[in-house]
Amino acid sequence: MKKIIKEINKLRKDRNAIILAHNYQLPEVQDVADYRGDSLELSRIAASTSASVVVFCGVHFMAETASILCPDKKVLIPDARAGCPMANMITPEDLIELKARHPKAVTVGYVNTSAAVKAELDICCTSTNAVDLILKLKHKDEIIFIPDKYLADYVSKKTGRRLISWDGYCPTHVKILPEDIIRQIRAHPQAKVLVHPECTPEVILLADEVLSTGKMYKYVKDSSAKEFIIGTEVGIIYRLKCDNPSKSFYPASELAVCPNMKKINLEKVLWSLEDLKEEVKVPEDIRKKAIRPIEKMLSM
Ligand code: 13P
Ligand code: SF4
Repeated sequence: MKKIIKEINKLRKDRNAIILAHNYQLPEVQDVADYRGDSLELSRIAASTSASVVVFCGVHFMAETASILCPDKKVLIPDARAGCPMANMITPEDLIELKARHPKAVTVGYVNTSAAVKAELDICCTSTNAVDLILKLKHKDEIIFIPDKYLADYVSKKTGRRLISWDGYCPTHVKILPEDIIRQIRAHPQAKVLVHPECTPEVILLADEVLSTGKMYKYVKDSSAKEFIIGTEVGIIYRLKCDNPSKSFYPASELAVCPNMKKINLEKVLWSLEDLKEEVKVPEDIRKKAIRPIEKMLSM
């Protein structure tokens, strides 16, 4: 075993730590993690762990969500610069202003938001549960849905509900173009086309299934198909290949790389455990407000 992995394993034990890795993390980070998963799965694990330290290998809003749920634990992110540009596309002030324009609306926000924005939400959602959650709000006349306009468009079409959306989007998923999907379908006509709901509506139209990364993983495991065109960040393909060695995976676009998800590597995981850095802590007044929409989501 590599020396660095031995050191990580020793410190993980000494510090009573768990390492969580999002499905887009580098292979070396996925390999060292206790759990891999999507945003919802990792939040649930963080909420229920008995570990004292959570090393969150993902982007900042994910570690922040874990910290909101576990204020007594030390939540660390191995590179504090790993942010999510989509989450930065809406500020609390923007949301307050939007809510003032629609005072009767219920406010639903994607988990890809800052803690300060979550503090202004009624309910949080992830790409796994967004459709179900909006269907449950049938008694509400107006729904604000922020910040991803493409997720909002997809959810709106699936549920038949008009949503008041925001002009946010994922800079990585918009790199996947309809012509990329068409080219891959021509090259692999038997392959199932799986895309993330952060993709553009034109790409979604060409998909067999629209799935969060966690649902994509389960779909591939359960499917009898042998080939898959993957329309999301390319990092997930490593996990798909590891756990489905007899199946083939083709990235819709090699350009779909989230640079922030690639900022964490093994060295940074080790330093994080050595120095207990960078701690992600949310001010208590914001945390108390931000936990409500997250708990509401987890209970739904
Ligand atoms: P998932 O919840 O599907 O893993 O999505 C998180 C994300 O940031 C996708 O870009
Ligand atoms: Fe944010 Fe997009 Fe990266 Fe996901 S892939 S973390 S939405 S920038």
